[in-house]
Amino acid sequence: MANDYSLEEYYKSNQTPWTDPDDALVEAFNNLEIRTGKAIDIGAGEGGNSFWLAKKGLDVISIDLAPSAVNFINSEAAKRNYNIHAKVGNIFNYESNEKFDLALLSYVHLPKNERQILFNKLIKLLKDDGVFIYLGFLKDENSVPQGSSPEEFPSSMQVAEELNGLTVFQILEQLDVRRIIPIGHQHGSFEGITTKVIAKKGSMSCERETF
Ligand SMILES: C[S@@+](CC[C@H](N)C(=O)[O-])C[C@H]1O[C@@H](n2cnc3c(N)ncnc32)[C@H](O)[C@@H]1O
Repeated sequence: MANDYSLEEYYKSNQTPWTDPDDALVEAFNNLEIRTGKAIDIGAGEGGNSFWLAKKGLDVISIDLAPSAVNFINSEAAKRNYNIHAKVGNIFNYESNEKFDLALLSYVHLPKNERQILFNKLIKLLKDDGVFIYLGFLKDENSVPQGSSPEEFPSSMQVAEELNGLTVFQILEQLDVRRIIPIGHQHGSFEGITTKVIAKKGSMSCERETF
């Protein structure tokens, strides 16, 4: 199933690994109170977000289907002395008793049925008061760079509704915004619509807060 989404071939040939965090993550994180603890970066790719979270003081588990990306993260983390453990694996098979303060799903465009499975899994993986950050592209034929894999690109409203439906998440922020998005160090950038949802586990209230 999800093996189809691995970017292994891309990572194997990529001479300019993607090591910067997404601006939306930086902004979201800076608005949260999490400064220590554990994060899980789901579909971490070449670790740009994992590196940044580790630099901010979190212990990070990075999961990805692609061995090349995972090897890159682990060797780079060792060089930079970051507390990151990257593992090759499919998030749907990931089992752990560890509880996380932060879970990140960044530009992993799962179809609805898989989002549902994952969001339910997050209930187990997150601590009470743990935060989930969803980042992605919003589907719009012109806003997705060519070659992107053809998964689903839901709006923040759709993702927030799905999380709300589980009744244990409180939506802290949801936003769709047009912005300039870098796509790798040698690949330039493009303008597109991105979507962000920040949800906190532990409240039965559906009341919304904004930053
Ligand atoms: C577009 S990349 C995004 C990488 C990174 N999160 C970022 O924002 O730069 C999507 C990544 O998700 C990984 N992936 C897709 N489905 C996955 C799954 N079920 N379990 C683990 N990793 C997955 C792919 O191998 C790929 O590296």
